[in-house]
Amino acid sequence: MNLNKNYENLEQSYLFSTVAKKVNEYISKNPDKKIIRLGIGDVTRPLCKKVIEAMHKAVDEMGVQATFRGYGPEQGYDFLREAVQKYYKTHNVDLELDEIFISDGAKSDLGNILDLFGEDNTVLVPDPVYPVYVDTNIMAGRKVVFADANGENGFLPMPDENIKADLIYICSPNNPTGAVYNREQLKVWVDYARKLGAIILFDSAYECFISDTELPHSIYEIEGAKECAIEFCSLSKMAGFTGTRCGYTIVPKTLGKLNKMWLRRQTTKFNGVPYIVQRGAEAVFTPEGQEEIKENINYYKENARIISDTLKRCNIRHVGGKHSPYIWLKCPNNMKSWEFFDYLLENAQVVGTPGAGFGRNGEGYFRLTSFGSKENTAEAMQRFEKLFG
Ligand code: MLT
Repeated sequence: MNLNKNYENLEQSYLFSTVAKKVNEYISKNPDKKIIRLGIGDVTRPLCKKVIEAMHKAVDEMGVQATFRGYGPEQGYDFLREAVQKYYKTHNVDLELDEIFISDGAKSDLGNILDLFGEDNTVLVPDPVYPVYVDTNIMAGRKVVFADANGENGFLPMPDENIKADLIYICSPNNPTGAVYNREQLKVWVDYARKLGAIILFDSAYECFISDTELPHSIYEIEGAKECAIEFCSLSKMAGFTGTRCGYTIVPKTLGKLNKMWLRRQTTKFNGVPYIVQRGAEAVFTPEGQEEIKENINYYKENARIISDTLKRCNIRHVGGKHSPYIWLKCPNNMKSWEFFDYLLENAQVVGTPGAGFGRNGEGYFRLTSFGSKENTAEAMQRFEKLFG
């Protein structure tokens, strides 16, 4: 029996598990302190009314012989795929139903999709970046190269013609920096990928936070993208499904074999998302559902504004928060990321995510999320201002 030796090349634990462990250690030593968590991007607003109604109805159907459902289609029920298809149409993107695959979230499929690609592919990943892109490729033993995202390029790296990538990860609006590519910039990436015969793995999990009508929500809004891109999206941040689990992956048929290969992979290794959850997800895309989730998104955007205003008053450089739930800030007093994490936990009992956990270029930066409650966000920022104002 041989173990997968590639695991030896991973950090000892996943970034957010390390943060949670450190926070739990602090709590066990300081049980009376009130901790405010603005670390992991987990939502706090409940599921909206329309979703709950749809789920209740689906639960009742499951208890009646005539409407009970067992295994569903591995690629998702048509009713939800049609809802996703219509949603894309609002961004002027036409998709065929069999290009849409319902998933249990973007994270799972961003990892699972790698089943379709050879181990000898070179993977291009922005740095800093959502750690799942890097870790899943390290697990498979692939060569990972990085595109530097930094203050100079507005945390939006552009292709380097000298790098011959096979797989390219793009996350826009970006996790962790909140930076968003415009159409012209994405077109450059699409042209680069097509020239190389590479595939872009486009993570659009935060597209619902975009408020500027000029900015693209989907890579398929860019000409040529259906020839080179797979897109991953999720209802986690859009509609509060972090615990309920539902998302969708788009594999265009214009990508050749990949669409059929993904169907083959899913029918073999996946049994679909529960019917009850898919009915809830369908409700998100109704006009009432869209109105209700918008209220929650605006609630989080208001939190982002509170954070950003506080940082401005404290003269702390930061980006993001406008088209994204994440605020990416330069650690005050030139502290390193983990040093600042400890300092903030110790002195303000506020938890954020150290930028260094997202890559080498994240060192000296820190990420705060706007997914907390308004009261907690405001209180965290008062504590912050006491230390740095
Ligand atoms: C994050 O905090 O970066 C996200 O919550 C992680 C995720 O979506 O898996």
